[in-house]
Amino acid sequence: MRHEPIGQKLFTTNRKRLVKLLKPGSMVVFNSNDIMPTNADGTMGFKQNSDLYYLSGIHQEESILVICPDFPDKQYREVLFLKEPNELMEKWEGHKLTKKEATLISGVETVMWLSGFEKMLHHMMTIGGVDNVFLNTNEHYRAEEIVQTRDARFIEWCQRTYPLHKYRRIAPIMGDLRREKQPRELELMQKACDITECGFRRVLNFVRPGVMEYEIEAEFIHEFIRLGSKGFAYGPIIASGENNVILHYVDNSQQCHAGDLLLLDVAAEYANYNADLTRTIPVSGSFTKRQKEVYNAVLRIQREANKILRPGVIYFEYHKEVEKMMESELLKLKLIDKTDIKNQHKDNPAFRKYFYHGTSHMLGLDVHDVGNMHEKIMLDSVWTIEPGIYIKEEKFGIRLENNVVIGKSRNFDLMRNIPVDAEEIEEIMNSK
Ligand code: GLY
Ligand code: MN
Ligand code: MN
Repeated sequence: MRHEPIGQKLFTTNRKRLVKLLKPGSMVVFNSNDIMPTNADGTMGFKQNSDLYYLSGIHQEESILVICPDFPDKQYREVLFLKEPNELMEKWEGHKLTKKEATLISGVETVMWLSGFEKMLHHMMTIGGVDNVFLNTNEHYRAEEIVQTRDARFIEWCQRTYPLHKYRRIAPIMGDLRREKQPRELELMQKACDITECGFRRVLNFVRPGVMEYEIEAEFIHEFIRLGSKGFAYGPIIASGENNVILHYVDNSQQCHAGDLLLLDVAAEYANYNADLTRTIPVSGSFTKRQKEVYNAVLRIQREANKILRPGVIYFEYHKEVEKMMESELLKLKLIDKTDIKNQHKDNPAFRKYFYHGTSHMLGLDVHDVGNMHEKIMLDSVWTIEPGIYIKEEKFGIRLENNVVIGKSRNFDLMRNIPVDAEEIEEIMNSK
């Protein structure tokens, strides 16, 4: 692995926190993700199942974690199943985890080969005292499961094989656990943000009129990989000029022109934890007066939003408050007027023409992390704050995005070191 060892304490603690929430007679099974095929014999890069990783730190395909806290024989209360390495596999794919290595990473004492899984499961399901079987589904409210996951295949098999057990969802419990970040997770997320900062500073010194958006993408990935990241946390958005206003522009194929703005929604992963940064910079190193006016409006909203994204608040109520701030800034910028507001329909308020996405989401092992958005905002959860104003008719848009930890007396900004003041950005760009 590229990253520093995480230490098994995080994963051991996470499993303990999970077990506390289970009722007697429960068993939980987590499957790793599949390696997804492309064409011919091609495959996509491996992305581990975040729940399995959260509870074990294991980043290897075809792994299964079983937690069965009331199993009579203590040594089988936590079992990790891995594929058994063989000479041919290692010749082609390189090293696979040994049982000892898996224990060292995860803290799970009992590691077995996959070939023993069905027999062990049968034992647990029959004389092992298991009544409630918790299985894992992707319940992210925006998930579209168009391809069957390994977990979903396992659910079908398990329900067919053991039809009279009680089946339950582990996803809401995992969401609750994962919302509250542990100190070690915050360190890893800080590292993802620090690597992201290095990429951004490199780009500040690189951007000039005439460069292609994909050349900027190359600068970022060079810096991220050099610093021990596996790469981008999500498809990088490197959008110059009119592309600024397209939220998910990922083509990154255009030339950057003098006078244009460049919106960079680009961040690194580190040890499977994600950063999520957006900055908007002037291609030629200086904002126009109008661009700066809009920029500072977005920055004011971001700073004010950070004061009200606090423990106990409901996200959707917070978002409404941010929309109010947005409305008043758009009035000042003369993008909307009082008549627009008077005539607006409640389902399509005037500000929505210029601000057409959510303000914040949770962040962690997933970029749009799990956890119920209707629950009160929790201490030690990590959120993005990412207001934006997109003015199609003026051919530019601005979004600024930072990542904050919800703290007791105030939030802690994981991106506090990443330049955001317009003047600081200009100064760095002009000092190259
Ligand atoms: N980069 C994805 C997002 O900001 O939500
Ligand atoms: Mn985001
Ligand atoms: Mn983003």
